[in-house]
Amino acid sequence: MEKPFVFGVATSGENFTDREKETERLLLNFTHGVNTILISPRRWGKTSLVKKVAQMAQTAKRKVVYMDIFSCRTEQEFYRLWATSVLKQTSSKWDEWIENAKLFLSHINPKISIGTDPMNDFSINFEYVRGDSFETDILQLPEKIAREKGIQIVICIDEFQQISDFEDSKTFQKKLRTVWQLQQHVSYCLFGSKKHLMNELFERRNLPFYKFGDAIYLTKIETKYWVEYICRRFADTGKQISSGLAEEICRLVDNHSSYVQQLSWLLWIHTAGAATDTQLSAALEDLLDQNNILFQNEIESLSSYQMNFLRAIIDGVDSGFSRKEVLQKYNLGTSANIIRLKNALLQKELIETDGPRVTLSDPVFGVWFKKRVCIPPA
Ligand SMILES: Nc1ncnc2c1ncn2[C@@H]1O[C@H](COP(=O)(O)OP(=O)(O)OP(=O)(O)O)[C@@H](O)[C@H]1O
Ligand SMILES: [Mg+2]
Repeated sequence: MEKPFVFGVATSGENFTDREKETERLLLNFTHGVNTILISPRRWGKTSLVKKVAQMAQTAKRKVVYMDIFSCRTEQEFYRLWATSVLKQTSSKWDEWIENAKLFLSHINPKISIGTDPMNDFSINFEYVRGDSFETDILQLPEKIAREKGIQIVICIDEFQQISDFEDSKTFQKKLRTVWQLQQHVSYCLFGSKKHLMNELFERRNLPFYKFGDAIYLTKIETKYWVEYICRRFADTGKQISSGLAEEICRLVDNHSSYVQQLSWLLWIHTAGAATDTQLSAALEDLLDQNNILFQNEIESLSSYQMNFLRAIIDGVDSGFSRKEVLQKYNLGTSANIIRLKNALLQKELIETDGPRVTLSDPVFGVWFKKRVCIPPA
């Protein structure tokens, strides 16, 4: 039986809702070769959106390459994944992959390995020789393929914030930008999940990717789309839910994409015919149970000031933390302490900032904190 709700992996087809405006804008960028930077907090739906648009944009004359660099720890690993992804995803024939590798990467002496099933067992390796000619050669690979084949290429790099962990990252970023910005037939969609890191990469004037492309800040999916979706998925699988209860799911998890799907799934399991309030409460407890250890670990490393700062946010304070009454009520120390606290919690990815507004990164953490961590009077 088809799964009514999907979470934990990118979603598509019947399990994908809304994002019409973003789909249109991204598709336009892909078709017109405009570079894009897509940023959002974790699990709001970047990968799902890009994969959907990648599929829509793919034609005989336009190839979309998708690579996830989450596991790349060094430049060398990046280059290897880059070369393999570009070769494999710009042609459907494996003999062409080898031909292109030989043709366009001859200077770097690539070692190609293919197994008995070349379509799934193809990789490319080379010795990394630090230096301009090596790097330019490999970074120009898509441009050369695009020219040779008379096609346009869009390269989507997921978890792009990973490059800020590479050794001497700024120099690496400069290299990428220098080569990429001169390419005529290749455009880029760079996206990543750690919002403050991605912001740094693209918004700091002194960093190479400053104003690299069209910046899209993904917003949350609105309640009306979720309600339509949840009710439809229940109905598709022979169960029912009222729109009021579907709205309540959204409210409980603050419209966080992944959690809306997860809580809907947990409720769906509890439901035999029509979903009830009591079943939703049970589903919410399941969700908290599942996250218990994770959240507990998260708070174990916090100082008491940091805990107090979280208490204030969970209590509804979202700005003006340095005001005397807030400092006193939540025992936050001096106003000079606030910036330190904010930065520490941002680093731990427990909070997000949007201008002066501070919110929790994870709405379920807030629910858990309220229900399961006692909040003593400050
Ligand atoms: N358009 C959508 N419609 C329905 N559900 C969605 C949509 N986008 C995301 N989701 C839900 O959110 C989850 C996370 O989506 P996705 O992996 O695309 O997000 P992400 O922003 O790339 O996450 P990460 O920060 O982990 O990379 C999906 O598994 C799904 O449950
Ligand atoms: Mg993702």
